[in-house]
Amino acid sequence: MSDSVPFWLHILAAAVWVGPQFFMFLVTVPALRAIDDPEVRLRVLRIIATRFGWLAWAALLVLVLSGISSLYDRIDDGFDVFDRGQRYYWIFNAKMMLLFLAVVTTALHSFVIGPRQIRLQEEAIAAGERDPEGAAALRRLSIALSGVTLLASVAILYTAALLANHSFSIQPV
Ligand code: HEM
Repeated sequence: MSDSVPFWLHILAAAVWVGPQFFMFLVTVPALRAIDDPEVRLRVLRIIATRFGWLAWAALLVLVLSGISSLYDRIDDGFDVFDRGQRYYWIFNAKMMLLFLAVVTTALHSFVIGPRQIRLQEEAIAAGERDPEGAAALRRLSIALSGVTLLASVAILYTAALLANHSFSIQPV
């Protein structure tokens, strides 16, 4: 039973990583737009962005560690996951490239665009402005980055399903 723990953590972390991304797009962003007071909106945004960021990076860390553990389990099962002649190898590499894309877009969002958006809003509130210059462009960039992260994550889940399907369909050596 304890052998299943790393894989369970992997699936749990995948749920924690992907679920809130959907929630953010479909629930949180529209709800934030409904807040008229810019100060209250900014305060709520800051709490959501900080907690969402921690959750996402923690889930990613668990995904990578438990993913490496699952990979070693596959190797112990007799799969040659580094054999270029195997379909498993190519699907796994596609999964890693998508993961790289998701990490880059998440990092850009967490460390560059998000903080810039918050700073701009803070300055606008201090200056009594309602819609500061550059805010719309940053918002579009932020939505584009979240969209790419979400699509990459959904594609990673598909590669995970392909890997599982492939593992079931071939006999380990
Ligand atoms: C370094 C990162 C990662 C590594 C090394 C890794 C590795 C693996 C391995 C070896 C498996 C077992 C596949 C099989 O049945 O042969 C697996 C399954 C899975 N992975 Fe990952 N993974 C990583 C990242 C991710 C990410 C970012 C997600 C989600 C967004 C994810 C979601 C899943 C899911 C849901 C499964 C279960 C598939 C199933 O049995 O239906 N993994 N992963």
